Amino acid sequence: MTDRSTAFDAWWGWPPPVLDPAGPYAESVTVLAWVLFGMGVVVTAIVAAALYVALAGPARLKAKLGGEKMVWVMGIGFPAVVLTGLLIWGLTLTASLTDPVRGDEQRIRVTGHMWWWDVEYLDAQGRVVLRDANELHLPVGRPVVLELRSVDVIHSFWVPNLSGKEDMIPGRTNFLKVQADRAGRYGGICAEYCGGPHALMGFVVAAHNDADYRRLLAGGGFATPARIDPQAVPGRMPAIRRATAATASGAPDGQALFMANGCAACHRVAGTAANGLSGPDLTHLSRRLSLGAGILPNNRGTLQGWIADSQALKPGNRMPSYDMLSAREVAAIAAWLDTPR
Ligand code: CUA
Repeated sequence: MTDRSTAFDAWWGWPPPVLDPAGPYAESVTVLAWVLFGMGVVVTAIVAAALYVALAGPARLKAKLGGEKMVWVMGIGFPAVVLTGLLIWGLTLTASLTDPVRGDEQRIRVTGHMWWWDVEYLDAQGRVVLRDANELHLPVGRPVVLELRSVDVIHSFWVPNLSGKEDMIPGRTNFLKVQADRAGRYGGICAEYCGGPHALMGFVVAAHNDADYRRLLAGGGFATPARIDPQAVPGRMPAIRRATAATASGAPDGQALFMANGCAACHRVAGTAANGLSGPDLTHLSRRLSLGAGILPNNRGTLQGWIADSQALKPGNRMPSYDMLSAREVAAIAAWLDTPR
């Protein structure tokens, strides 16, 4: 049997490669990482050589190794100089990645929730022009400043291809610059244990060329995602298969069911009475690349499965399974949510 997630994971860049920078910020982190690794190798080699000399070397070298001069030079001077240099490098790099200074960069506010990501695109005045969830859309070749927050516990925002890693801490805003120099999809993940399904708190970053990106922000219309073939995501999804098989004709009213079953208490759908804010905004759900915060490809079948039994797909997440609904009702709600807005 194929692993549940292989095809989808490959499609959205999971697991994200840590040493494959796709932009200048990730590049600077990668260079420092290699230098740290290289220095580690050098120091290990020096210590191993000194150990060999101390155990089995000629008496003259042994005496030198134990001399006072060696303690001052290699024991104190060398580490002090090297470690101070690396510390300054690391602090300077961190400061440059987390500098909130406002230029004309696109700003995106990302708020961590247990266990998903609220995403708001801001205009130059800081007003929200578009609200979305669990994915970020970036313009290729331009820096983007992220405002990172959390509403509950500490999460950590990490897209290894595009920048460093930054904590999202309740009660404060942290900043992180990201940039993608080639169009494509990049995997992101929560890098701080935040309880329950922490390991299933992922997101997708899509980098677009300028024209596509302007269309996204102007019309609230993402470039139509290349939706993944549901057949390509095999395996343990009984809820999805059951619901998909029962996709109904003459379906009941999805919007009415959405309201009647309390979905609007947590979810917002612009232009309707659904105005809940504790769950992901579902206005643009039809254009979303993934479901469940990066764990499933978004299509009608997976959406039905998610509504019917999200607890089977992402155990412990805050949305209850709606297994009291019939397959026809689930299909109707999914069809309504899956309508482009
Ligand atoms: Cu959020 Cu781990």
